[in-house]
Amino acid sequence: MPHSTTSTMTIHPITPPPGSTYNFGAEIRGADLENLSSSDVDTIVRALYENQVILFKNQSTLSSKAQYEITSLFDPEATGYGHGKTLDAKRSILHPDLKTVPSQPQVQVIGNGPVESFEGLENITLKHPHHKTFHKDVISEEDDRENTRFYRWHIDAALYDLEPPKATSLLAVKVPKTAKMTCRYDDGSGDELRLPRGSTAFVSSYTMYDILSEEDKEFARTTKVQYAPHPYIWMSPAKSRSNGLGLVTEDLELSSSDLPPIEESKIKILPMCWRNPVTGKLALQVHPSAVQKLILKDGTVIDDLKEVREIVHRMQRPGIAPELVYPIDWEEGDFAIFNNRGVLHTVTGSFLPEEVRIFRQCNMAASEGVLGPKEDQEED
Ligand SMILES: [Fe+2]
Repeated sequence: MPHSTTSTMTIHPITPPPGSTYNFGAEIRGADLENLSSSDVDTIVRALYENQVILFKNQSTLSSKAQYEITSLFDPEATGYGHGKTLDAKRSILHPDLKTVPSQPQVQVIGNGPVESFEGLENITLKHPHHKTFHKDVISEEDDRENTRFYRWHIDAALYDLEPPKATSLLAVKVPKTAKMTCRYDDGSGDELRLPRGSTAFVSSYTMYDILSEEDKEFARTTKVQYAPHPYIWMSPAKSRSNGLGLVTEDLELSSSDLPPIEESKIKILPMCWRNPVTGKLALQVHPSAVQKLILKDGTVIDDLKEVREIVHRMQRPGIAPELVYPIDWEEGDFAIFNNRGVLHTVTGSFLPEEVRIFRQCNMAASEGVLGPKEDQEED
């Protein structure tokens, strides 16, 4: 791969259901993912950056190796998993959710329920993340089967030392089909959204930027975001807002002395807006739980965590309005790739302990940093 074939691929933008207005996502039909020509590869890479989420149906037979190779097409120089070896840190909030495929360490198994044998992993128990382990306030037991939350809006990125992956792929291997649920924001807005149980929800960070006021756009273009060192350990005692969009500030984050050694040079300071390499559009792209400080155009540093979070939440919240959320209705064999530098995504839903769900996830720490706004960039 790649070698020469005649392309039969066609790209079909996702049609949002009535009431929804999101403008991203596309299904690619006719792709032979294990025999892609170089022009197929160009088409797929372009499709990702134009549609942010691309979906291939009926890919159940795709091997972990092929999944890794396809995910690599978006960043051929990248090699290691997006979180490096940090998942080994038992205190990381990511640790319980991911199990590494032994033969392909860039690929992780996620899901729910007992699994006897899968990809060299034997007798494992997967646990679908539930908001009760992360949110400050939770849905009551009696409402929990019918209602859910956005678990945690995020970018797949270590945000310390390593560069944010360009693309993440997800293969739905086993999907228990059950009734839809209501996803509640519970943030005082009254907002809610019907979605399939276990749906992965996406929002476009380009839209999130586009709907800002001109003043906020200028702020976003000129502000830098400093992430906490070892962010997933740092935030481990803290709790999330009910809409999954960042943390509540209760001074629970770990202090530097409680973290693994910190190398100043590995702390990530990234632009607040990330530029799409194909369309040139700007995404308001901030990991709302991992942010620690904002550095303004004039060099002022906002380091009051509560204030930092309030600013980021105020700017991001309009972008997760129910009509802007694309919840994937997973079917077995679905293979989705998303532009990790242009969307936020989150787990939703809850499963009973015996409901078996298996997904394979792959991403790589990028070979290069994110693109910020061009000098003097205003609108595209
Ligand atoms: Fe993720």
